Amino acid sequence: MAHLLSTSCTINVSSGCKPYYIPLNQGSRAFPTSFTLQASKSPFGRLVSFGEKPQRNFTVHSTTLPISKEAPAQPSSGAHETFNEPSKPQRVMVIGGDGYCGWATALHLSNKGYEVAIVDSLVRRLFDHQLGIESLTPIASIHNRLRCWKSLTGKTIELHIGDICDFEFLSEAFKSFEPDAVVHFGEQRSAPYSMIDRSRAVFTQNNNVIGTLNVLFAIKEFREQCHLVKLGTMGEYGTPNIDIEEGYITITHNGRTDTLPYPKQASSFYHLSKVHDSNNIAFTCKAWGIRATDLNQGVVYGVKTDETEMHEELCNRLDYDGVFGTALNRFCVQAAVGHPLTVYGKGGQTRGYLDIRDTVQCVELAIANPARSGEFRVFNQFTEQFSVNELAALVKNAGEKLGLNVESISVPNPRVEAEEHYYNAKHTKLVELGLEPHLLSDSLLDSLLNFAIEFKDRVDTKQIMPSVSWRKMGVKPRTITA
Ligand SMILES: NC(=O)c1ccc[n+]([C@@H]2O[C@H](COP(=O)([O-])OP(=O)(O)OC[C@H]3O[C@@H](n4cnc5c(N)ncnc54)[C@H](O)[C@@H]3O)[C@@H](O)[C@H]2O)c1
Repeated sequence: MAHLLSTSCTINVSSGCKPYYIPLNQGSRAFPTSFTLQASKSPFGRLVSFGEKPQRNFTVHSTTLPISKEAPAQPSSGAHETFNEPSKPQRVMVIGGDGYCGWATALHLSNKGYEVAIVDSLVRRLFDHQLGIESLTPIASIHNRLRCWKSLTGKTIELHIGDICDFEFLSEAFKSFEPDAVVHFGEQRSAPYSMIDRSRAVFTQNNNVIGTLNVLFAIKEFREQCHLVKLGTMGEYGTPNIDIEEGYITITHNGRTDTLPYPKQASSFYHLSKVHDSNNIAFTCKAWGIRATDLNQGVVYGVKTDETEMHEELCNRLDYDGVFGTALNRFCVQAAVGHPLTVYGKGGQTRGYLDIRDTVQCVELAIANPARSGEFRVFNQFTEQFSVNELAALVKNAGEKLGLNVESISVPNPRVEAEEHYYNAKHTKLVELGLEPHLLSDSLLDSLLNFAIEFKDRVDTKQIMPSVSWRKMGVKPRTITA
């Protein structure tokens, strides 16, 4: 039986949010006290589970409650009862809601009046412990985050801690929460992580592909009308020498024309897991009538959203290390500590980028405008495209205005990728639905740089350089000895 962690039932919220400074800095180096780590040959020491058979879910001893529904924080609009009305989803399950995009999104949706349940195995926090890395920002435990949210807003976010690869756990979460929409962020999302060695490659594909398959089966079995909003990545497309369309391309071949899925050319075991997910979702839309939206997201930057800014304890994570850090966030932290910006190879690698405030907006738009039954809808979720050299120049410029001396260096590219290429990806569908982009501006860069400067004492400069090579898999600098 899955266990529901209901903050309003288990936690006294009247005392307000606790100050976060001392306990967090200490706590982020240790496992949460209620978890037990099992010795394992795999790098993913499984956390002790319920039941007899070895499972992949976590036990939270201190706060586990039998499933019970509490009164919703928001009065129901009735949409939950008239479930076949797809235009008014109210109950949203956010899988991966303790992560970077998921946390910001869960708060945003809760703030907008949706009833939200977070499902998360907390495995992302475990990766940090295993690799000896840490978010630039001190992040509160998920329990403290939710207590704080409840205390500030009166809104409850349900919490289900467990692994979606465990179908029994996921089924219970579905049966108890009865989602109208599921936003699925819950995957291992680092390309370098998936390229460390065989066991991480296998973990990534197993975790991501089986997790998503389980979500599809749970929808089919328990909530057939539920809309799946799945986070894919622009990286699924690779860098073709033609324009990238939003999911589909119309091709005329030998005199016949068809509209087909846009070709995928993934460039890591992580990106490949996303392609496999997309294929599985597309198939189940066709075969079972699942309604799904695949959000092929670009690289996300920034840390603040309206909701995470409300209190220090709601602060989001910000990764800057060579394994989980993404381009722009990483450059801002490098500039803040006086480390040269690490441009991989020639720096002509061009990708789509978006502000985290737009991630939450895009997901909300996708939920509010669900796919039709049987439809596999694909949106390219980014707002602007930049080459790595362009990003480095922007950060150098913004840094110098703040009095920082910012230099760039070219480091040998650890990845196998084109370093100079054509790139023109369409991204109009979310704008048509109402997305109002926050474009990368001097003021945003200033604020991100100032943020990085504020926390620069937490930076471990040894974690900045890339440490995982695409060509030398199995060579794992710092992953074993960290
Ligand atoms: N961050 C980006 O720049 C970016 C870009 C493109 C796409 N995406 C996609 O967005 C999604 C979220 O990315 P993120 O940056 O927030 O990642 P993240 O690692 O910060 O968050 C992922 C969350 O999912 C949880 N999780 C992982 N496997 C799970 C499982 N089997 N069961 C339950 N929970 C599980 C983790 O514990 C973590 O809290 C990912 O699918 C990623 O591929 C992210």
